[in-house]
Amino acid sequence: MMRLISKIKLINPCLVAFLASVFLAGGSAQATELLHEGITEPKTPWWQHAVFYEIYPRSFKDTNGDGIGDINGITSKLDYLKELGVDAIWITPCFPSPQVDFGYDISDYCAIAPEYGTMADFDNLLAEAKKRNIRILMDFVVNHTSDKHPWFEESRSSRDNPKRDWYIWRDGKNGGPPNNWQSLFGRSAWKLDAKTNQYYYHFFYAEQPDVNWRNPQLKEAMLDVDRFWLKKGVSGFRLDAVGCLFEDPELHDNPVLAGTNNFGDPNTEFKYNDHYPEVHDVMRDLRTVLDTFPGADNAVLVGETSGPDVKSISEMYGKTLDEIQLPMNFHFAYLNMRSAPEFRRLIKEWNANPAGGWPLYFFSNHDQIRHYVRYGDGKNNDAIAKLMAAMLLTVRGTPLLYYGEEIGMENNDPKRVEDVYDPIGKIGWPKEKGRDGERTPMQWTGGQYAGFSTSKPWLTSADSFKTHNVETETKDKDSLLNFYKTLIKLRGHEPFKNGDCKFVDANDPNILSYVRPAYGHSQDCLVTLNFSDKPVEFTPLLTGQAITFPHGEENVPLSKLVVQPLVPADASCSKAIYRGGDTLHMPPFGVFIAEIKRSN
Ligand code: NOJ
Ligand code: CA
Repeated sequence: MMRLISKIKLINPCLVAFLASVFLAGGSAQATELLHEGITEPKTPWWQHAVFYEIYPRSFKDTNGDGIGDINGITSKLDYLKELGVDAIWITPCFPSPQVDFGYDISDYCAIAPEYGTMADFDNLLAEAKKRNIRILMDFVVNHTSDKHPWFEESRSSRDNPKRDWYIWRDGKNGGPPNNWQSLFGRSAWKLDAKTNQYYYHFFYAEQPDVNWRNPQLKEAMLDVDRFWLKKGVSGFRLDAVGCLFEDPELHDNPVLAGTNNFGDPNTEFKYNDHYPEVHDVMRDLRTVLDTFPGADNAVLVGETSGPDVKSISEMYGKTLDEIQLPMNFHFAYLNMRSAPEFRRLIKEWNANPAGGWPLYFFSNHDQIRHYVRYGDGKNNDAIAKLMAAMLLTVRGTPLLYYGEEIGMENNDPKRVEDVYDPIGKIGWPKEKGRDGERTPMQWTGGQYAGFSTSKPWLTSADSFKTHNVETETKDKDSLLNFYKTLIKLRGHEPFKNGDCKFVDANDPNILSYVRPAYGHSQDCLVTLNFSDKPVEFTPLLTGQAITFPHGEENVPLSKLVVQPLVPADASCSKAIYRGGDTLHMPPFGVFIAEIKRSN
C-alpha cells in the first residue's frame, strides 16, 4: 500500500505508465483499480467525481425488435458503459405515459412503461448495474403529470373532487383564459375543460397539466414517489423543470415583449410563472427525503435549473447547500461559440459560484442540438469534439454526457413536417423542427439500423453512423470513443477528481489553459486547449497561485519544470506539442495535458 503511494508522490510514474498502457492496449480497468488501491485521498461524495451519462431509453437499444429501445436494451449495454467509464446513468422517463412528450407526460410514477419492459426488467437492470458499480438516477417530473394520470382524471371530474386542488384550476376572464400566460410549447397556458367549465394551467403541452405544490396532499404524494424509487435502490433523481413549480396566485398578466416567437405567438416575459421562491422549500423537502432515507448512500439531486445568470442558478444549491447538489448551468451548455474567452469566463464564474456548490457541466441533452454539430465546422468535427471532451472532462466539476456524444453522433433533423414526432416541431415548423434530431438511435455498428434494432427504428440515424459507431471506433485507437475512455480514466485520478482549477492563459483569445493543482497525493497538472483552427505557440507562465510552489515563486516557465505529457489527442501528438523549452506548439484544436513538477 505505502509503496504505491510513495511511487505516485515521486512523479506519479504509475499514472504515466498507466496512461501509456491505455494508448497501447486500448485501456485496462485492472490498472485503474491497482492504482486506486491503498491511496487514501480525502473523502468526497461519489457524485462529485462520478461520470454521469444520460440515456434516452426509447433510443438506446432495442432488444425485442419493435423499433424502440427498452430497459433490457440498457441492461445489455452495461458492459459498454462500464468500459467507457460511466459511474451513473440518468434514464429519461421510462414510466407509463401516453408519450405525447415522449415520457415527460407521466400517467403512473411508480411503474415501467410496457413498451419499455416490466418492473422485473427494471429490477434486473438495477441489480446488474450494481454489480458493475453503476448507479441509476430516475427522471422525476415534478411540475406536471399527464392528463391521463388518475390524479388528474379525478381532479377534472368535478369542482368538489378531493383532488381538485392538486392541479391549478381557475375561472376564465372576459370569455377567454384567466390571463395571458403562454405555454413554453406554444399558445395559451390555459385549457378550458368543458365538464366543469374551468381552465387548467399547463406550462408545457395541454396534455401536461401543472400540479399544485401548495397542496399538502399533492406534495406528500410526490415525495412518496421519491421514496418508492429510493426503496428500490436508485441513487437519486434528475428533477425536470424545477423553475416553474409555482405561479403567482393572483395571476397577474406577464409583460408582453416585442416580436413573436417560433410558434408565432407574441413574446412574453415569464415573470409571474417562473422562479417563485417557494421552490426552495420543495427542494429542501426533497433533499431531506434523500438524506434521511434508510440505506440511501448520498443520493443526489441533479436539477434542470435555469436562470438569467450564474447567481440565480446557484441559488438552487440552497443557502447551506441543502437543496440540489448538482444544478444544471445551461449558460455553459448553450454557448454556441467555440470561444476560449467565453468558456474561460463561464468556467470561472461557475467554479466560483456564490453558493460554493460543486459544478456540473454538460454540452448536450435530449432537448438541444447535439454539440458535435453545434461546435463542429463541418471539416474538423472529430478534432473539435475531442477538444470539447478534453475541456468537459478535465475542468473541476462533474461531467454529464449524453448518449452517443462519445462516438460523435450528429443530429438528424426531420426533413418534412410529416416526419416530425415531437409536437413542438409540428406546431413550430419550419422555424422549430422539434427535438427528434437529437434523439436518434444509438449507433452501435455500421450495419443495418446502426445495430440498434432488428426492425426499422422509430427514428433514423444520421448517415454518419457508418463511420461513427461503437464497433468501428472501438477498433480505432485514435477514435473519439477511445479518447473519451482515456480522458475518463485520467479523471478518475487526482487532481482531476477533486483538485481546484486555476487559469494560466492570461486571457489568450485562442487558448484555454489551466492548472489542476495537486490534491491529495497527486501532482499539479496542466491542461492546454487550442480553440482555434490555426496552430498557436503558447508560453504558459505558472504562478504560485496556480501551482503548488512551496516558496510562492511567480511566473515560472515550463523549462524550469519537469513536464510529463499524459494524454495526447493522438498517439504522436504530445511530443510535437512540447519539444522542451518554454513553449507549447499547439496544432489547430490541439489538446495538451501534462503533469508538471518543479525540477530540483
Ligand atoms: C424538460 C424536458 O427535458 C423536456 O424534454 C420536456 O419536454 C419538458 N421538460 C417538459 O417536461
Ligand atoms: Ca423494444
